[in-house]
Amino acid sequence: DTVALAFSGGLDTTVCVPLLQEEYGYDEVIGVTVDVGQPEAEFAEARETAEALDLEHHVVDAQDEFAALCMRAVKANATYQGYPLGTALARPVIASAILQVAEDAGCTGIAHGCTGKGNDQLRFEAVWRDSDLEVIAPVRELGLTREWEQEYAAERDLPVEGGDGGAYSIDTNLWSRSVEGSELEEPGYVPGEEIYEWTTAPSGETRELELTFEAGEPVALDGEELDAVTLIERLNDVAGAHGVGRTDVMEDRMLGLKVRENYEHPAATVLLNAHEALESLVLTTEERQYKNGIDQEWAEKGYQGLVDAPLVRALEGFIDETQARVTGTVTVRLEGGQARPVGRTSPYAVYSAEAASFNTEDVTGGIEQADATGVAKYHGFQERLSNRVTEATDAS
Ligand code: ARG
Ligand code: SIN
Repeated sequence: DTVALAFSGGLDTTVCVPLLQEEYGYDEVIGVTVDVGQPEAEFAEARETAEALDLEHHVVDAQDEFAALCMRAVKANATYQGYPLGTALARPVIASAILQVAEDAGCTGIAHGCTGKGNDQLRFEAVWRDSDLEVIAPVRELGLTREWEQEYAAERDLPVEGGDGGAYSIDTNLWSRSVEGSELEEPGYVPGEEIYEWTTAPSGETRELELTFEAGEPVALDGEELDAVTLIERLNDVAGAHGVGRTDVMEDRMLGLKVRENYEHPAATVLLNAHEALESLVLTTEERQYKNGIDQEWAEKGYQGLVDAPLVRALEGFIDETQARVTGTVTVRLEGGQARPVGRTSPYAVYSAEAASFNTEDVTGGIEQADATGVAKYHGFQERLSNRVTEATDAS
């Protein structure tokens, strides 16, 4: 029997290979690495480790599919507790790609190296449990700790790199890089620059970028049309060099456990900030207010790894209706580790400079300043009345 394993070449998934044979009785393990935009070095690590383990190794390119999902997240302004959801969004994409390989290869089992404490086990299995394959989670089922894994790897002479890099649990894709574990588990511990790879501490330098959006999706950078993957990669480089997109949070996981997470997500921060700035120009007050709640629901399902939920399709019905007008440009200034929108234009702007200006007498369409007098007389009517009645009643 053959089992397909979500394989990164890191400590967790490397120890899973002999365990799937010895503890679960599989004759053969196939390692599958799904490309969701990790840096080249990670594929090299996966390839080399697979070779050293004599493991059949598949790499599946899912970058475009993942980038398309990131664009849906932009339209939904999606963040969870300040984190733009990179790991969470990648999981269903990775899970589906691995399942496809497993089914094509006639596997009877499918496995991941997630712990029983985290979110990723839930996101993978939400996809896999729709199949007939045996779902296996060795780290969770055998109660493994990273310390035990390190000892086991050393005893077995398994090809894992040691040192600091091995101490952290790192997850990378186009949208974000997450670092957790080791001394970062102490919420009071202040991490040094060494945990960051995509961002450099902000210098005094500033830079302005112009982003073009069409129907809610970013399509060009400084006037140059780019596909989603290239746009995200460029922005990660440019904004990362200005220290944009660092998040250090106490995150509430699905199981209820809090975990200290450190993230880097330069492109996501730029795109989310720019997108929201454009929405603030083209959507009506009530659309923005209502969409806030819709966006939060979207982010919640995104965090759960359930982006194919019927609820998400329904939310996106609303989102897409509003996004038809989210077309225009936003100028973003990278400064002091921030990506601050400093200018926006759109043919759909719900804005009339003439109407709002302090320099003109008329508002618009025959409305004059004096017409607000009646509104001003009514404003706060119920509040004044309630306070007066309450005071009089309490006094009597
Ligand atoms: N806590 C984050 C999430 O649930 C990221 C987990 C990333 N995994 C890791 N091994 N660093 O989306
Ligand atoms: C894990 O626990 O395996 C990684 C972190 C997570 O899934 O939240």
